[in-house]
Amino acid sequence: MRIGLLTGGGDAPGLNGIIESVGKSLIKDGHEVIGVIDGFEGIFNQNIKPLTLNDLHGLHALAGTYIGTSNKTGTKGREEEFLAGYKKLSLDGLVVAGGDGTFSALTPFKQQIPIIGVPKTIDNDLNGTDITFGYDTACSVVSEAVDALRATANAHKRVIFVEVMGRTAGWIALGGGLAAYSDVILIPERPFSKELLLKFINDKKQQQRGMICVVSEGAFPVGGQPEVAFTVEGSPQKERFGGMAERLSQWVMREAKWESRHVVLGHLQRSKPPTTTDRFLTLAMGVQVAKMVNENDWHKAAVYKNGVVTKTDLSELMQPARLINPNHHWISFAEQLGIFI
Ligand code: F6P
Repeated sequence: MRIGLLTGGGDAPGLNGIIESVGKSLIKDGHEVIGVIDGFEGIFNQNIKPLTLNDLHGLHALAGTYIGTSNKTGTKGREEEFLAGYKKLSLDGLVVAGGDGTFSALTPFKQQIPIIGVPKTIDNDLNGTDITFGYDTACSVVSEAVDALRATANAHKRVIFVEVMGRTAGWIALGGGLAAYSDVILIPERPFSKELLLKFINDKKQQQRGMICVVSEGAFPVGGQPEVAFTVEGSPQKERFGGMAERLSQWVMREAKWESRHVVLGHLQRSKPPTTTDRFLTLAMGVQVAKMVNENDWHKAAVYKNGVVTKTDLSELMQPARLINPNHHWISFAEQLGIFI
């Protein structure tokens, strides 16, 4: 078969691992693997690149995606053009590594295009899987940053607010913040009380030299809403969140009279070579994808559930974001450690 391979949405560490694993597995079984360049744009522009074993060797260790991606081109209003573009490429099916934006943009083509999905996002907010690749690497960037920032916070007796990605989900803040034992973790799923936070910070001021607060970009106080920094027209998810860490840092200087700074980790969280966990996840998912292609088992996704890589219905990845359940045991870990959450 002639199989298209497309990476869509924001890049995530591990995308190149998926390309290498899917590509090598399919080529070994005699299929032709065609890289679709820059996500959906490659379908619209007929921009493709046949992938050879030489192209694939060693990709797994690299950040980014060898075949490019885009999170600003959707299919809305261009459905016919998209379908015509797909047909013109003479593919027998499409393997797509993407997030909720990518998969919801593919919903209209369920009947017409044979698709196998692979859940990808540093945000870890996809349904149908217990974890997405890229998440572990993003958490390791956060925990390393928090550990490093503690030194300057303590040296100068400062509070440092560290803003992390995740959109409307707090997985990166919670996972990365816990791994570094940060003092405060603010996530969108638990709007924070400014009053209680101020009391916590005032108490800490008496007890320690510096403190670190990890703030999810989508976090907001009780009665508030996520800060939209700007919007990207054409993107399946237009809003880009940000600004809460800076806002809180100024508020703490005013209200607690404790010198404060903010750091936005931004795209560093996406642009690191994958951790071993993410490498292994993508290796196993790629092999699972090849198995599904060989069995002509389309409209499914390779996912990680209950400790193993397995398959599920593709429609599960098209559901709204998987947010942190307020009773999630990681929240009780934070509470038990005296972390403000
Ligand atoms: O969905 C992945 C993500 O990195 C989010 O955490 C973040 O809000 C967004 O993408 C940033 O998008 P962009 O790369 O367009 O700035």
